[in-house]
Amino acid sequence: MTDFVVRPAVEGEQRALFEVLGRSLHAPPVDDERWEKRSAGWPADRKVGAFADKQPIGVASSVGTAMTVPGGKVVPAAAVDGVGVRADHTRRGVLTAMMREQLGDLQARGEVLAALHASETTIYGRFGYGIGTRSQDVSVSPRRARFRDSAPAGGQVRLISSSEAIELLPELYRRIGLRRPGMIERPQRWWSSQTHRMKDLVVAVHTGPDGDDGFVAYQPQDRVMKPPEMRIALAVHNLHGANTAAVAGLWRFLLKIDLVGEVRAFGRPLDEPLAPMLVDTRAWRVTDVSDELWVRLVDVPAALAARSYRDGDPVVIEVRDPFLPANSGCYRIGPDGAGRTDELPQLRLDVDVLAMLYLGEWQATTLAAAGRIEALQADAPERADELLRTPTRPWCGTGF
Ligand SMILES: CC(C)(COP(=O)(O)OP(=O)(O)OC[C@H]1O[C@@H](n2cnc3c(N)ncnc32)[C@H](O)[C@@H]1OP(=O)(O)O)[C@@H](O)C(=O)NCCC(=O)NCCS
Repeated sequence: MTDFVVRPAVEGEQRALFEVLGRSLHAPPVDDERWEKRSAGWPADRKVGAFADKQPIGVASSVGTAMTVPGGKVVPAAAVDGVGVRADHTRRGVLTAMMREQLGDLQARGEVLAALHASETTIYGRFGYGIGTRSQDVSVSPRRARFRDSAPAGGQVRLISSSEAIELLPELYRRIGLRRPGMIERPQRWWSSQTHRMKDLVVAVHTGPDGDDGFVAYQPQDRVMKPPEMRIALAVHNLHGANTAAVAGLWRFLLKIDLVGEVRAFGRPLDEPLAPMLVDTRAWRVTDVSDELWVRLVDVPAALAARSYRDGDPVVIEVRDPFLPANSGCYRIGPDGAGRTDELPQLRLDVDVLAMLYLGEWQATTLAAAGRIEALQADAPERADELLRTPTRPWCGTGF
């Protein structure tokens, strides 16, 4: 049933599309005050709209950014930062049509990857997105968390005001750099969309031997200030450091703040080396592990050519991409790089599974065991593991 049209949004339609998105996510209606705060981060540019009887019924938004891939290259990428369909128009193919339009637009812009945070894991696989990174939520007990003598000491930490944070953090984030595969540049538009949140957050900056090199943004939660129980929890939403010493320094700071009974940190890298720094490793409790970033290889040849590979025997992979068929075909990957080939395939997989392997989050052997990869040569999954292995776990660390 095609009783709707899908097209790029034009100037003047952005507030109505923001309303559609908000309603689809069960947010309160958009009054003038809320729109005032959000409009700078929500321009008409890069919005795909769906319209029925000239009324907006769906939106898919993206922001242009760049992402680090294994080996350190940074490639043009799209952060898909808002997708919703009005509840009375779902399951009629509106999202499918918007995804087609959006991916065509990203291809035309020369963006190699697209990424999003998914509300549900069942939505985006059909459009070629796979779980590119995972992250963990942790709960840390300051009372139990004593650092070992061998743990990095860290530097100085200072608290800054929200107006200083708005000024300082974009440059500091740039200086910290995209250290892990999956990290993205934060465009000014991203920072604009965060300004209204800053006033609810406490921000601290870490200074190392070369100057400011890390920051943390957190929010006090569950405040109980009635004797004899005086305690509070801290919810950490953003913690970035240029190196392990800066990350450790920020954690040391959080864990020695008075009256804090628990530090809850969300979306941390799976290989954050904090637990082994502690005398009592159980002070660091993992409360959840979940998918963090869903990644789509928009341009498979360019994406495969951009990342690096370890030493090992080359593998030929047949990629199936029904949604963007130009990507389908056989690719040879080896220590010298990757490109199309006429050789016979040794592994066969869908493009969403390639996205799971691409940043180094999953192993080919695991996905073959799960039935997601067809091994046409018995040792090919192991060889692919060897080539695709990355020294650090991929992680994005940016919500959008
Ligand atoms: C998720 C959402 C955008 C889907 O839009 P939609 O227009 O209903 O999607 P489509 O009709 O194009 O669905 C395409 C396919 O995906 C499936 N699908 C869509 N949403 C799904 C969901 N939430 N769970 C499982 N399957 C889903 C459909 O059943 C359909 O399958 P089919 O091709 O086998 O028939 C819409 O339901 C929505 O706005 N949800 C609330 C907000 C939200 O979660 N947004 C996503 C934020 S990341």
